[in-house]
Amino acid sequence: MPVSESRYVRVARIADVPRGGMLEVGVGSRTIVICHTRDGWFAADNICTHAYAKLSEGRLKKTRLICPLHGGSFDCRTGAAIGSPAALPLATYAVRLTGEDVEIEVGDSPAGS
Ligand code: FES
Repeated sequence: MPVSESRYVRVARIADVPRGGMLEVGVGSRTIVICHTRDGWFAADNICTHAYAKLSEGRLKKTRLICPLHGGSFDCRTGAAIGSPAALPLATYAVRLTGEDVEIEVGDSPAGS
């Protein structure tokens, strides 16, 4: 028996996010960035772990998500902080494509907990 429930939630249409692009989506109280890379689709928390900035307003270079405020960066596949001054990882979410839709898996507990 699973201890916690998770579910996939439709957040966008595939056509909304061209390859190389990002899209900010909201799921409950969370703000999440969808990244469509050459390596596939990924989703992570959209708020930088260094201070407060929306990563969707930064840049996506391959799988490197670059913060617009101080230039810290993250690997959007894993959430790992890979460029200073970012040091703490982002929470990430599984992504699946169904038909024309992009869905992400979200648990019942708040992100990062
Ligand atoms: S707020 Fe993102 S690197 Fe500082």
